Amino acid sequence: VRSETLAKRFYRTIGARGLQDITLAEKTRADVRLAKSLVTGGKRILDLGCGYGRIAIPLARGGPQITGIDIAQELIAAAKRAARQAKVRVRFDVGSMLKLPYRDGSFDRVICLWSSFSHLLNRRDQLTAIDEMHRVLAPGGVAYIEVVNAGTAALKRRLERAGLGPDKRLSRFAVGSGEITIYNHDRNSLQSVVERSDFKRFRVGLKNAFGHRRLTAWLCREQP
Ligand SMILES: C[S@@+](CC[C@H](N)C(=O)[O-])C[C@H]1O[C@@H](n2cnc3c(N)ncnc32)[C@H](O)[C@@H]1O
Repeated sequence: VRSETLAKRFYRTIGARGLQDITLAEKTRADVRLAKSLVTGGKRILDLGCGYGRIAIPLARGGPQITGIDIAQELIAAAKRAARQAKVRVRFDVGSMLKLPYRDGSFDRVICLWSSFSHLLNRRDQLTAIDEMHRVLAPGGVAYIEVVNAGTAALKRRLERAGLGPDKRLSRFAVGSGEITIYNHDRNSLQSVVERSDFKRFRVGLKNAFGHRRLTAWLCREQP
């Protein structure tokens, strides 16, 4: 089954309300703070897998030009409604991070937060998405990915026991009324995907975020 099919199915089932229900307000405040620091110095920002606009809308209040894209139509509809209510201008598009509908070099920053990238269930899709980030970034632009860290002893043990897929990296679990499937990277495995991408400058690391160690990739499109 394709990554996109499962993600769409899951978010159609839980809807924007279901996603809001599993989001803590403190997490959103922390993520918006992180996003603000990430987009500093950039004018054109792309929020990849933006969901219902949880981060894109508060970010737009600070002045930069924000575009949010998400594969789930229902979430983009909710994001558009929320932006109208908040009276902020954000462009929201339905689309996939595997084939971005934007010209080369259109953005200064790309953010892909709260495990949107984990919905890409194989390394081929992950590499495609990273190369798409590279393509849409202007020279000197930066992309940032943030996902669950599967390098912890507990998660490693769980994947060893119950991981799915050829390399036991997939986990499937119930969230609300839906069933989600995600890919679990550790530092080395994410590093090995990024190394094969078009980015030449990057850093894969761990970051304390809201009581967890999260896995991050900082990717910079080189200047010509
Ligand atoms: C856990 S939500 C996070 C949403 C948002 N980044 C946030 O922090 O609130 C993951 C999002 O990734 C989106 N997504 C999954 N696969 C995608 C793809 N191939 N292209 C674009 N968005 C995708 C989902 O529809 C969902 O909105």
